[in-house]
Amino acid sequence: MPSRTPAQKPVLWIATRNRGKTREFSQLLRGVCRVRDLHGLPYFPEIRESGKTLAANARIKACALSRALANRPILADDSGLVVPSLGGRPGVYSARFSGPQATDHSNRIKLLRLLRAKSGVLRTAYFEACLVIAQNGAVLSSVSGRVWGRITHVESGSRGFGYDSIFQPKGFSRTFGELPAATKHRISHRARAVAKISPTISRLLKPSRLRKST
Ligand code: IMP
Repeated sequence: MPSRTPAQKPVLWIATRNRGKTREFSQLLRGVCRVRDLHGLPYFPEIRESGKTLAANARIKACALSRALANRPILADDSGLVVPSLGGRPGVYSARFSGPQATDHSNRIKLLRLLRAKSGVLRTAYFEACLVIAQNGAVLSSVSGRVWGRITHVESGSRGFGYDSIFQPKGFSRTFGELPAATKHRISHRARAVAKISPTISRLLKPSRLRKST
């Protein structure tokens, strides 16, 4: 059977305004669907991430958007960087680590400063991504993925987003900021979570199923 062209692929809405995440999902889900994010709904209000865990925040985001876009499956990702020697920080606060006006750059600088006197195993860290699919306010699926590595002493590379330029995955001598996107997409926390949830996404986006629910 001929495969569908990109324009014919079903659309999956993602509850994020983070362009780095959207770019990664569009590449990771390339064979399954096209993705759209909250930049396509500019008046949709900011979703308050009041959960204490990544999974709770992913549920909050997926359910909020799924109530606004009835009968469609909605994907949300809440993710973060965990440094055990810092008691798990920045963790669920990864995006706001250096305060309410935080940028990716200010967050990286703060983390490098906190780790300045630490070496070896004390620089061990992992990224975790929690993905949730919700429809009409109900959670249909929830998965997570993790990748271990270490925090470098200086920033290297300009690929990716967030903490990529200071995170060296285990088994590699370059950071996610230096490695090709295809390498990150083989081993990342997000790629591992997507591998678990993409069969569910394919099933929910089947044209017959979408027709029935609208
Ligand atoms: P969230 O929007 O609350 O999930 O924020 C996640 C934050 O974690 C992002 O703003 C990044 O700082 C960080 N993060 C999550 N995934 C990645 C990644 O793949 N690379 C680099 N940083 C990430």
